[in-house]
Amino acid sequence: MMMKGVFIILSSVCYLFLLILPANSSLIPENFIHCLSDHQFPSNTSILSVVYATTNTSYQSILDSSVQNLRFLSSATPRPLAIITALEYSHVQTAVTCSKSNGLQIRIRSGGHDFEGLSYRSQVPFVILDLRNLKSVTIDIEDESAWVESGVTIGELCYAIAEKSPVHGFPAGSYPGVGIGGHFSGGGIGYLARKYGLAADNVIDALIVDVNGRILDKESMGGDLFWAIRGGGGGSFGVVLAWRIKLVKVPEVVTAFKLSRTSEQGAVDLLHKWQYVQPKLNEKITIMAALNKLGAGFSSLFIGRVEELLEMMEEEFPELQLRKEDCTEMNWIESVLFLSGYPGGHTIEILKNRAYNPFRAHLKLKTNLIHQPIPYEAFQGMRNWSTGVDFSSIYFQPYGGIMERISESETPFPHRKVQYEILYLMGWMEDGKDGKSSSEKYIHQLRELYELMTPYVPNNPRSAYVNSRDLDLGTNGVFGTTTYSKAKNDWGSRYFKNNFRKLAIIKGKVDPTNFFYHEQSIPPLFDTHDEL
Ligand SMILES: Cc1cc2nc3c(=O)[nH]c(=O)nc-3n(C[C@H](O)[C@H](O)[C@H](O)COP(=O)(O)OP(=O)(O)OC[C@H]3O[C@@H](n4cnc5c(N)ncnc54)[C@H](O)[C@@H]3O)c2cc1C
Ligand SMILES: *[C@@H]1O[C@H](CO)[C@@H](O)[C@H](O)[C@H]1NC(C)=O
Ligand SMILES: *[C@@H]1O[C@H](CO)[C@@H](O)[C@H](O)[C@H]1NC(C)=O
Ligand SMILES: *[C@@H]1O[C@H](CO)[C@@H](O)[C@H](O)[C@H]1NC(C)=O
Repeated sequence: MMMKGVFIILSSVCYLFLLILPANSSLIPENFIHCLSDHQFPSNTSILSVVYATTNTSYQSILDSSVQNLRFLSSATPRPLAIITALEYSHVQTAVTCSKSNGLQIRIRSGGHDFEGLSYRSQVPFVILDLRNLKSVTIDIEDESAWVESGVTIGELCYAIAEKSPVHGFPAGSYPGVGIGGHFSGGGIGYLARKYGLAADNVIDALIVDVNGRILDKESMGGDLFWAIRGGGGGSFGVVLAWRIKLVKVPEVVTAFKLSRTSEQGAVDLLHKWQYVQPKLNEKITIMAALNKLGAGFSSLFIGRVEELLEMMEEEFPELQLRKEDCTEMNWIESVLFLSGYPGGHTIEILKNRAYNPFRAHLKLKTNLIHQPIPYEAFQGMRNWSTGVDFSSIYFQPYGGIMERISESETPFPHRKVQYEILYLMGWMEDGKDGKSSSEKYIHQLRELYELMTPYVPNNPRSAYVNSRDLDLGTNGVFGTTTYSKAKNDWGSRYFKNNFRKLAIIKGKVDPTNFFYHEQSIPPLFDTHDEL
């Protein structure tokens, strides 16, 4: 009996070991290298000149330089067998083809800002396809459009547009270091969204490498796939090489302000009032709000002159007591820097510096989408929680404006009737001497806040925005095991509402073997019976 027990334990240890071994083994399969080097490239260069194996002296720095969430810089994070920093589209095609034929998973990384690090970590043997070198921006001012490659950051894109025209801009997120590869794939919301919608709403064409290594554009990929990649979340349908975008008009002068109010100055009252005021405001204005242990903050972009703004605020939000000296008239690109969250003292050139990331910290984010004002008590609860917690910020990102007039099925992003998003963010620098434990403490505190908010937020389901990625909502199984219904209940219907089913059907058509797979990738749905 005893022997048998030992035997069972030993054999299951071996079995586990076999399963785990490939992930920890740092050797890249020879066949994979052969496959890569067998390909001929138009430029006659070898793809091997952009393949960094674990033995390469630059491997670690290339890997770490785009790990934007310090939680995943730890030695506990599984490392890729290799990083391929593609220089040309055919490198991407070859990387996809050879990874697939060798049973390796691929993780696509553009800016590396995924909140859960899904672009550079995996539990199974994998390679990172890093698009940092695909960074051309080709602007056609006459046509008011541009082709932008996936490795470009939001800051670089905005800077390039402003270099070409003082009256054009683009509605993307407010943090300049975010990569457009992941950002547009999930939607992309920022200070121009109420006027012009999401970044993805302004994508008019795209180039994508599909699971068979083919390059497709809008025409050749077909309407369904083109729909899916504009908001269905990164890493599920293929590798986006470049987006063609529609530029939007901005006036030569816009007005921006930042204000803070302590608890004694009525921070909680103001936040509570803000949620009634903001949704009714003209789409030319976006007031982002924030709460931390010091009080409330308000950061705003107004697409117009200061007099008009002051008049509007006097009328609609006198409680904020906005004064002319709080406001600055500037051009749009200056407002991008002003509202970036970067510390002061920089010129707009910093927008082009992708290595600059003052927000690089251990991050954990959870969010809620709000459809109508929540009670005063909820704000008191958030304030009470904040005062006892270090390193937390709660942001209130307005939706609304033109977004309300777009149908829920127009793109995979369904949250068109949402008034605002609450983002509960923890960002701590030190992981402490006791290793994992301080991270656990902060993550635990954040989850407590999320629980505390349960009675106040819509819960049917408790919806979320895919770019605010949160693995607490649930994950696909490690080895590609996924069921549609589990994914739907866990996170699918929260991120995509009724669009999840269409996304899964499209996934089943374009990637039936589920090669483009990650912890929250869209599972393929072939048979509608799976739905049960
Ligand atoms: C500090 C900070 C501020 C942010 N601010 C905003 C904001 O204001 N508004 C907003 O909407 N969001 C914001 N976000 C969220 C951001 O939009 C997402 O994290 C986005 O997915 C990041 O894109 P990336 O290319 O930098 O990330 P990555 O980590 O490179 O990619 C994210 C996901 O997309 C996949 N992916 C990346 N590139 C491609 C590609 N070319 N083709 C297919 N799949 C791809 C990855 O595999 C991964 O699953 C912010 C995030 C951070 C960390
Ligand atoms: C690549 O090599 C082929 C054959 O040697 C040659 O004809 C071609 O001009 C080369 N192309 C480039 C871009 O150098
Ligand atoms: C590291 O990899 C790069 C890209 O493939 C290559 O150019 C370089 O020679 C390698 N360096 C070492 C020390 O292996
Ligand atoms: C917040 O704290 C105040 C002061 O301690 C208390 O009166 C109030 O009940 C608390 N509210 C919530 C919702 O926690």
